Amino acid sequence: MMRKILVIVGSGKLHGNTNQLSDEFIRGALETGHQVKKVNLTENIQGCKGCGVCQNNGHHCVIRDMMKDIYPLFDEADTIVMASPLYFWSLSARLKSFIDRLYAISTDDEYPQKDTVLLMTSGSDEFYAFEQAVSFYRFFIKALGWKDQGMVLAGSCITKQTETAVKEHFLNEAYCLGKRI
Ligand SMILES: Cc1cc2nc3c(=O)[nH]c(=O)nc-3n(C[C@H](O)[C@H](O)[C@H](O)COP(=O)(O)O)c2cc1C
Repeated sequence: MMRKILVIVGSGKLHGNTNQLSDEFIRGALETGHQVKKVNLTENIQGCKGCGVCQNNGHHCVIRDMMKDIYPLFDEADTIVMASPLYFWSLSARLKSFIDRLYAISTDDEYPQKDTVLLMTSGSDEFYAFEQAVSFYRFFIKALGWKDQGMVLAGSCITKQTETAVKEHFLNEAYCLGKRI
């Protein structure tokens, strides 16, 4: 079945590790014949204000920022790929703001059904590095009723100013996940 995949990259670096990992996933997904759109959260996405206006005005968020272009892409996608660098043992604030702002499209805390994937990169190679992030991801998708289709957690990335360095086997994992999803 052809999927409509939306890849949300919560890294400030357009050519960093997280984009490198995401692009391998996308390469695999395109080869399988899926339709893919990628959005980099390079502009600031403001946090949800909790004003609740969205619940009474046809699900429009009052904040006018990059999210207004993302809501329609989110609507048409059946699969949401969330990609983030590990920041202080958690998801990046950019990605978290995207998640919080999805509140606008909920009705009585019910969300549209989506399949989902988590892609992450980190500097650390400790086995527990992604524990908090993965725990959050599992809780959050369970609450929304979404279905996990796989994760790639790429530890020990070397970060230089000009080069990206995600380990080859993680790039391959991401490519294979994109291909088989
Ligand atoms: C603000 C900040 C916080 C970070 N926190 C962690 C961390 O808690 N654990 C870790 O292993 N790496 C941490 N890193 C390293 C990044 O997760 C890692 O370099 C990542 O691959 C960067 O992805 P990017 O190239 O897409 O920005 C941090 C980097 C930054 C800039």
